[in-house]
Amino acid sequence: MTASRTDNPGPTRLITSPDGAAQWLRAGQLVAFGTETVYGLGADATNAQAVAAIYEAKGRPSFNPLICHFASAEAAFAHVRPNAMAQTLAAAFWPGPLTLVLPRRASSPVSQLAGAGLPTLAVRVPAHPVAHEMLALAGLPIAAPSANRSGHISPTSAAHVLASLGGRIAAVLDSGPCAVGLESTVLDLSGPAPVLLRPGGVTREALEAVIGPLSTTAAPGAALAAPGMLASHYAPNLPVRLNATAPGLDEAFLAFGPAPAGALLFQLSATQNLIEAAANLFKALHWLDEHAAHRGLAAIAAAPIPAVGLGLAINDRLARAAAPRG
Ligand code: TXA
Ligand code: MG
Repeated sequence: MTASRTDNPGPTRLITSPDGAAQWLRAGQLVAFGTETVYGLGADATNAQAVAAIYEAKGRPSFNPLICHFASAEAAFAHVRPNAMAQTLAAAFWPGPLTLVLPRRASSPVSQLAGAGLPTLAVRVPAHPVAHEMLALAGLPIAAPSANRSGHISPTSAAHVLASLGGRIAAVLDSGPCAVGLESTVLDLSGPAPVLLRPGGVTREALEAVIGPLSTTAAPGAALAAPGMLASHYAPNLPVRLNATAPGLDEAFLAFGPAPAGALLFQLSATQNLIEAAANLFKALHWLDEHAAHRGLAAIAAAPIPAVGLGLAINDRLARAAAPRG
């Protein structure tokens, strides 16, 4: 496609140097990197061909807008126009798992493809020291969706990324397992009132404590809230059955607290701690998918998760994993 990128980047390198990652990014290459939420598949957001390569590597069916990642709020706000609420939220939650959708500045060099041609741009400042260093060294807005093939489970380790995208991208910056384990909360501040587009790592309660009541997220499966929010997403290969108090004979079990003996199961949190469960969710789905298939099981039964705090985001991801495949 370009002089700086070949169609076959060869074997994907596993690297640990943020400086090395920044150099690949500056050269227009794709680099997956760890954040506190999930691994992102990064590219220079100002380089349309590098951004196009993200969609190609992921096999994304359409050009959903991507989040641009920055080392600081100041760097982010050079590309979008923050209102007072955005300033307040940035001060309260950045660096951290919150993405703000704001009107894009006409002067921003971010490619139209990264923003899917929208007048807004989604920006975030991740809370991970390695990602921070890479972003600061790159000195560029880095567009990054989750580093998985489209529609599959989001990666929370470098090994997950290699299993999904190995051979398709230049490098993976191994930054260890992701502490939050769920994608960022996406909040649209471009209209008259803030709208929660995607529940995520910052809870609704935490946001409301700072900015007051939020309008409701569209329920999973309802009309698309964020353009990229397909009903079926985060899908393991096996079907998922929700709100199961126990697994059937041909099912593996995604447990949250009480767990039956004998079943193939992954415990999200024995103490029913939602923070621990969020951090384990995608790892659990990856693991159950692989091991249940080996054992000839037909489905994954998922225990009920309370819809409070991070439970909202966990239930959102589980509902998508269980949704009819399109
Ligand atoms: O935690 C995360 O957010 C991870 C890490 C890598 O930062 N990234 C991530 O990106 O989850 P992705 O592409 O899987 O999800 C981005 C979401 C999509 O639902 C997309 O539609 C929405 O953000 N989005 C991006 N730009 C938008 C915009 N301008 N307006 C509305 N929604 C937008
Ligand atoms: Mg994703």
